[in-house]
Amino acid sequence: MQFKRLAYTSLAALDLTVEQLFDIGQTARDLNGLDGITGLLLFNGTHFLQWIEGAPEAIDDLMERLRRDPRHSAVEIRETELADERLFPDWSMKLVRVRTHYQEAHDDVLEKLPVGLSDAIRARIAGMVELISVEV
Ligand SMILES: Cc1cc2nc3c(=O)[nH]c(=O)nc-3n(C[C@H](O)[C@H](O)[C@H](O)COP(=O)(O)O)c2cc1C
Repeated sequence: MQFKRLAYTSLAALDLTVEQLFDIGQTARDLNGLDGITGLLLFNGTHFLQWIEGAPEAIDDLMERLRRDPRHSAVEIRETELADERLFPDWSMKLVRVRTHYQEAHDDVLEKLPVGLSDAIRARIAGMVELISVEV
């Protein structure tokens, strides 16, 4: 089976609370477990950068739900591809908090992502974090 993988960025609601962030992570893990979706969600305090991967129909359905979700806006797809293997097979949704400035966020990605992820994938994710970062 071919997996669809998609990365998008969005702007978190200004009044987003810690509880809401926790809920997003919980819902994502629960539903993704049922839908066969895996991925990674980075949050820097103002923006999200999320990778989702799974069956193409499951990813399209999730994108529709995400676009309707008032807890974020300005959803912009940054990368979409078909792949034979998952990048994040072990995470129904891994939430990682990163800092705001690009170099710090870049370091956070390299340091905070769990072992088991190849250096190439780590570097690819760290590069894309620029999309949500503030320049120093
Ligand atoms: C930044 C962000 C990431 C989310 N990630 C997921 C996810 O990976 N999987 C998921 O099922 N829902 C995720 N959600 C929640 C969905 O937007 C939606 O609320 C949920 O899928 C339930 O759909 P429904 O509200 O249409 O019933 C996320 C929401 C936000 C704001």
